[in-house]
Amino acid sequence: MRVAVIGAGIVGLACAEELVCAGHDVRVFDPDPGGGATRAAAGMLAPAGEAWHGETDLLRLGVASARLWPGYAARLHADSGLDVDLRTTGTLLVGQDHDDLLHVRRTLDVLETEGIAFRELDRREARAEEPTISRVAGAALLPEDHHVNPRLVAAALLRLVAARLVRARAVVTPTGVATADGRSFACDAVVLATGAEARGLVPAVRPVKGETIRLRAADPPTRVLRARVHGEPVYVVPRAGGEVVVGASEEEHDTAPVASLGTVVRLLHAARTLVPGLETADVVEVTARNRPGTPDNGPLLGSDDSPGAFRLVLAVGHYRGGVLLAPLTAQVVRSLVEDGDVMAVARPFAPSRFDPRQSIVGPEHRKASCA
Ligand code: GLY
Repeated sequence: MRVAVIGAGIVGLACAEELVCAGHDVRVFDPDPGGGATRAAAGMLAPAGEAWHGETDLLRLGVASARLWPGYAARLHADSGLDVDLRTTGTLLVGQDHDDLLHVRRTLDVLETEGIAFRELDRREARAEEPTISRVAGAALLPEDHHVNPRLVAAALLRLVAARLVRARAVVTPTGVATADGRSFACDAVVLATGAEARGLVPAVRPVKGETIRLRAADPPTRVLRARVHGEPVYVVPRAGGEVVVGASEEEHDTAPVASLGTVVRLLHAARTLVPGLETADVVEVTARNRPGTPDNGPLLGSDDSPGAFRLVLAVGHYRGGVLLAPLTAQVVRSLVEDGDVMAVARPFAPSRFDPRQSIVGPEHRKASCA
């Protein structure tokens, strides 16, 4: 089939690569591949650490995708020659003070109900497990929440789809897609994977700003730390070469994202309180991007059943989980393109759970611009 993927963030690239592997004639359109939310992402594969009450379907989706990651990372390495730095050292969920620890326990309640592994640690055990942290009230080890370097994942995927990449903004037309410089591509299917930019076509998607800060530290933590520090949520993600990613804000937002001083100061203060050794770290980069938020924090994975020149497939609204959910989304999208069955774990994420008249763009709206 001739398939256009609009958007080359981690989700669009994963979909394009999966479709290429399946033998389809794929083009992927983006003026700045990997330059959106993927650029800011810390790369946590953290369904357990981000679990919350009322989001059981999302937790199950995340767990299913997390289980794909070891094989996926190995395949990307073998096929592209790039190691995407998957680390399977788990995550420490930390409560800095007593009230912060109550918040941690609320997450553990969800994990217990779902039978997801964790080990609670008192303050002494927490510091024995992770000597770089300060005196905290308590913690829990989440042995199955890992992390990967999203920039390397995007680079590996880009290598694998390089011959299919069109570095241009694309619009959906009645027969497929067209670029701003006037090239048209007739398609059997169009996959919309434009992150927060999808909001012009998919009203359920809204931009939520996130800021991350990249540091270089002499004594970084040995694993991901996800914490509440006197009420402030913060995560600290160590990478190769002493790089440490600190994140992230979550702000409702409707313009181009720019990092703000107050947010950066709050995040760095929380990170330094949690890991005092970060005091002397170099500040390397501050990045702000819009995440694609949705009303229930879950993605929109579905296709347009209305008769038209092509099938429209949505892979948008991944909010805080674009990196985690990329491999599973790619498989779902391939099924949707090929008219196959969507796996049970992804069915709760049909776009029709929102206003069905609005959730998938109708043919009359397809001329609108995206990406
Ligand atoms: N998943 C991490 C974030 O969105 O900040």
